[in-house]
Amino acid sequence: MLSFDFHNPTKIIFGKGRSSELGKLVPAGAKVLILYGGQSANRTGTLAEVQKALSGFEVHLFGGIEPNPSFDTLMKAVAVVKAENLDFLLAVGGGSVLDGTKFVAAAALCEDDPWQILLRHGANVKKALPYGTVLTLPATGSEMNSGGVVSRISHKAKLHFSNSLLFPQFSVLDPTKSFTLPEQQLANGVIDAFVHTMEQYLTYPVDSPLQDRFAEGLLLTLIDIGPKVLANPQDYEAQASFMWCATLALNGLIGAGVAQDWSTHMLGHEITALYGLDHAQTLAIILPSMLQQRKKSKQKKLLQYAERVWNITQGSDDENMDQAIEKTRQFFESLGVKTRFADYKLGAEIISPLIAQLENHHMTRLGEHNDVTPEVCRQVLEKSL
Ligand code: NZQ
Ligand code: ZN
Repeated sequence: MLSFDFHNPTKIIFGKGRSSELGKLVPAGAKVLILYGGQSANRTGTLAEVQKALSGFEVHLFGGIEPNPSFDTLMKAVAVVKAENLDFLLAVGGGSVLDGTKFVAAAALCEDDPWQILLRHGANVKKALPYGTVLTLPATGSEMNSGGVVSRISHKAKLHFSNSLLFPQFSVLDPTKSFTLPEQQLANGVIDAFVHTMEQYLTYPVDSPLQDRFAEGLLLTLIDIGPKVLANPQDYEAQASFMWCATLALNGLIGAGVAQDWSTHMLGHEITALYGLDHAQTLAIILPSMLQQRKKSKQKKLLQYAERVWNITQGSDDENMDQAIEKTRQFFESLGVKTRFADYKLGAEIISPLIAQLENHHMTRLGEHNDVTPEVCRQVLEKSL
């Protein structure tokens, strides 16, 4: 096992109706900014619920954080925080609202140009406002991690940032919040959590049997409950497992002491920035081709994945790896998420602009061996057409 630091200070409040406890979770006397997205928090009643729970506090609202949150919108929230002297943020929404709130937490106290937070991937964050979250969409793990992704449309950039000062103080995880999610968002969430697990599991062996089994447990659970939450979004038990899987897939636990890849994600971010696909759609397209392209260097883990997750043992090594990759693709497709660029009406014309974007953003040595160069990415993109 590799050496590691593990510290996760986020308190999780899990269960039905738990946002009623917000009054005890937010520090007494705090001046709060509630941040939310488009219409869902209003429509579903979650916003009203949260406001009621905070009736004893000075509360301001900031709505309109879009999917793939935009730098310009978030800077408007920073202006509200400064103008009103607010000292606590509460995100109510999915990964986009949570990531946006993380950025506001850092940008509000940033002495540098806040754009540098993204250009330097969070390395220049020296302080941040405290914040909590009420999660309404299981997918990103943002509710228990210190990272986020923000887009700047004028720069065609979607950049990640992280800093240990950016963990939420608490996150309320109420599985009933997922009851109102449309099918596409449920499927996206399952795939995002699945690929987060794969990015930390499917690399090379470092003698980490416990982390491997944590990861395989998450993958098997997601394969089991994915179809269930789609078939019946009101299934509390399935939604509860889904929400907890998504959180554990990216809260640092399964990644501690193992090699990590993340090349599928980095390429995926560029696809969203240029062509607007949902985050999970980009992952569903790229992951199968990425595994295919890098089959040799991932052979040992791919065979372990084939056997333990998909029960594939009968063929030659090559056949078993191919089958496991094909099963992965079929799983994504079975959730209704397409896995080829052609399905999104995109063709070979996208390849050169995407490679240029990776180079612009210094994403030229990706993967667990730093050997995923723009040339490798080009081949992955060709395989994904
Ligand atoms: O905007 P509203 O009206 O609120 O609607 C949202 C949005 O349109 C809707 N929604 C959310 N909760 C709902 C709901 N609709 C009905 N009922 C509910 N309970 O869902 C739509 C998508 O929301 P969004 O927050 O964009 O989705 P998701 O949670 O998948 O977040 C995606 C973002 O997170 C980033 C992605 O890149 C993307 O920008 N990621 C963040 C990570 C992290 N912080 O660790 C890691 C991930 O790899 C990912 O990159
Ligand atoms: Zn993701």
